[in-house]
Amino acid sequence: MKKLLITGGAGFIGANFVHYWANEYPEDRLVVLDALTYAGNRNNLAPVEQHEGFRFVSGDILDTALVETLLREESIDTIVHFAAESHVDRSISGPDAFIETNIIGTHSLLKAARQVWITEGRCPVQHRFHHVSTDEVFGSLTPEDPAFTEQTAYAPNSPYSASKAASDFFVRAYHHTYGLNVTTSNCSNNYGPYHFPEKLIPLVILNILHGQSLPIYGDGKNIRDWLYVSDHAYGIDLTLKKGRVGETYNIGGCNEWTNIDIVQLICQLMDTRFAHDDILRRRFPKSPAAGGVASNSLISYVADRAGHDFRYAIDTATANEELGYQPKVSFEQGINLTLDWYLSNEQWWRSVMDGTYQQWIEQQYKVA
Ligand code: NAD
Ligand code: TYD
Repeated sequence: MKKLLITGGAGFIGANFVHYWANEYPEDRLVVLDALTYAGNRNNLAPVEQHEGFRFVSGDILDTALVETLLREESIDTIVHFAAESHVDRSISGPDAFIETNIIGTHSLLKAARQVWITEGRCPVQHRFHHVSTDEVFGSLTPEDPAFTEQTAYAPNSPYSASKAASDFFVRAYHHTYGLNVTTSNCSNNYGPYHFPEKLIPLVILNILHGQSLPIYGDGKNIRDWLYVSDHAYGIDLTLKKGRVGETYNIGGCNEWTNIDIVQLICQLMDTRFAHDDILRRRFPKSPAAGGVASNSLISYVADRAGHDFRYAIDTATANEELGYQPKVSFEQGINLTLDWYLSNEQWWRSVMDGTYQQWIEQQYKVA
């Protein structure tokens, strides 16, 4: 039986990981530590709230003493560290929070883990600190470049990716210097349920429903490698089981899309749903599709993101060979599951689209 401390477990990927783990390993103890920032939502954990081994702690990873107390009182043997500021656009308009949470916060966790697991020797079994990172630390690819491998040199371009790169290096240093048992996964863009609607895919879905413009940065030709979020959880699970301590693993979907193609695809899928569903037409009368007009009429090219990375792509060969990792959910399945989830969970997205969210969206998007 494992005892996990999951930081950032009330956010998008963290919550999906908690659901995944509770389902796969119902006997395990799951302690979630989350500061419930704008991106964290206690309701994301509703599916596991009654789970016997589940505990939620509202708190900050910067609070080293709190983390030490949790490690001791819960006899935690595994930390899975998701907590972060995660949105590139926010890192451009306000980098400080990224340095605070992603760098200093990660260091605070590492210090606590070292204190309790190594200095006090309190971990009865082999401990593990798993750090959840991103492919964005590798920088930007041209269309011809090979995909990122674990050997690709770090070249972060945004304050977000720079802060994640710094945190990755601290994790590495705590292994080499203090003997902390660490692993790191660098994953590509995730999508799926509970995705906060400031990110491309949920933003497009909800703007179609509301008949609001679909902002495409620059020419829309930038490329991302999309992975359904439960496959990320699966990749982390395999890394915990089979990953070599001190190593990093690239996790991705082998599923590259230009932004404009992905937006066009979501528009088509929505149009088809509206055409066959009278209830949908009545629920969302402001959507062009409710009146038989194509959703892609909402597409609007806007000013490009500063320093916009052109392409990310992940080479998963190491994860395939060492961990036996292969994504289980095809993009066709995943994107349809995602649309189904947003259409069935209106209460969830209405609750996260509050005044603060609206202010952010309004200040962000200016038509070019
Ligand atoms: P998210 O923004 O949806 O959630 C972040 C969570 O962390 C929130 O619940 C928030 O309340 C919590 N948090 C923030 N600051 C905290 C603090 N100081 N103390 C405690 N909790 C705090 O992020 P996400 O998209 O779920 O990403 C999770 C992790 O995965 C991040 O580390 C991110 O860098 C990484 N990642 C994300 C993607 C992606 O596509 N979203 C891809 C690869 C890696
Ligand atoms: P995003 O979901 O913010 O993830 P990331 O920047 O971490 O890859 O953005 C995905 C891509 O979509 C990225 O190239 C920026 C672009 N984008 C838009 O064109 N319009 C938008 O409104 C948003 C949020 C993103």
